[in-house]
Amino acid sequence: MTDRNTDEATGDALRSLGDGGPLVSRLGLGLAAVGRPGYITLGRERDLPGDRSPDALYRRCAELLDAAVEIGVRYFDVARSYGRAEEFLARWLASRADGAASLVVGSKWGYEYTAGWSVDAAVHEEKEHSLARFRRQLEESRALLGDRIDLYQIHSATLESGVLDADAVLAAMVAARRDGLVGALGVTVTGAGAASTLARAMSAQVDGERVFDVVQATCNILEPSLAPLLAEARQRGMGVIVKEVHANGRLTPANQRPEDGALTARLERLAGERGTGIDQLAIAFATTMPFVDVVNSGAATVAQLQSHAAAPTALDDEALRELAALAESPQEYWGKRAALPWH
Ligand SMILES: NC(=O)c1ccc[n+]([C@@H]2O[C@H](COP(=O)([O-])OP(=O)(O)OC[C@H]3O[C@@H](n4cnc5c(N)ncnc54)[C@H](OP(=O)(O)O)[C@@H]3O)[C@@H](O)[C@H]2O)c1
Repeated sequence: MTDRNTDEATGDALRSLGDGGPLVSRLGLGLAAVGRPGYITLGRERDLPGDRSPDALYRRCAELLDAAVEIGVRYFDVARSYGRAEEFLARWLASRADGAASLVVGSKWGYEYTAGWSVDAAVHEEKEHSLARFRRQLEESRALLGDRIDLYQIHSATLESGVLDADAVLAAMVAARRDGLVGALGVTVTGAGAASTLARAMSAQVDGERVFDVVQATCNILEPSLAPLLAEARQRGMGVIVKEVHANGRLTPANQRPEDGALTARLERLAGERGTGIDQLAIAFATTMPFVDVVNSGAATVAQLQSHAAAPTALDDEALRELAALAESPQEYWGKRAALPWH
């Protein structure tokens, strides 16, 4: 059962992130696009400041965070590997008169940022799901965010990484939750094998105690295949966050890729007929799924975030039917995502 409450500032409904979890808004904000100069989203040259120094990107983050709070956003998503995103969020939280106490913060461990603030680095992030990496990154996250880590997630767990079979890692995560070093535990899943990973994560236990309280997964118009499993996770009381709802920019007006021409034309028609934008259609698609607690916006500008917040909260059956026909196979979708360049 989802607890409901109302945000005093906006009057919007809040819901608990999983049974007994913290109260969150339906729209969340992730800082992957603005915590570092390089990323894979499509319109960065246009949408980020020409000056991508740490100071300039902190200012962009702070503008986005201020606007998000104004809109009623209560969930904020960062990771050790998003450049300085944890640091920026911590600095902004400290600058708020009330410390923004009612906001919910999620971070992740498992990837290390290796780009050295360059957009041309050969390797932008490096993955390791070992016990040593967990211990070190938890310490680093806590050094920045202190007791504000409401959710600590394994970043892009896969069956191949072995982390879900690593009893010592899972036990250390559960101990961190028990000791109050983090609030809840989560797992994020990515890639064509995400369904198997998610199924395994949902049943992970340490001494009879469920490991993961929350799952964060990709679920969008082009890649909706995890929806049934996410619904089951929610039914079992886990919190559900969906990410990459704009397919890293492919489901926005910024998508000028010739190979997506037919897709963009159909989305423009569907959106136009409903007096909305493509980006809003993508948000609405995710919001209408009843098992979703948080739709993670990856907005790089305040205008994008405001557009996401103004998305419709329901879609007609015809739109849902037409959107369902746009789904790609997981293999095709993730193949295209892997080819998006860092820039
Ligand atoms: N494994 C994981 O745990 C994982 C993986 C990915 C993401 N995430 C989380 O989910 C969040 C969102 O994911 P994401 O940023 O990768 O993908 P996304 O939300 O699908 O794409 C976000 C990008 O779409 C573009 N966009 C959005 N609205 C737009 C508009 N109205 N007009 C034009 N362009 C628009 C922007 O890029 P441009 O401005 O460059 O066009 C924006 O940065 C992240 O911040 C992160 O917190 C987690």
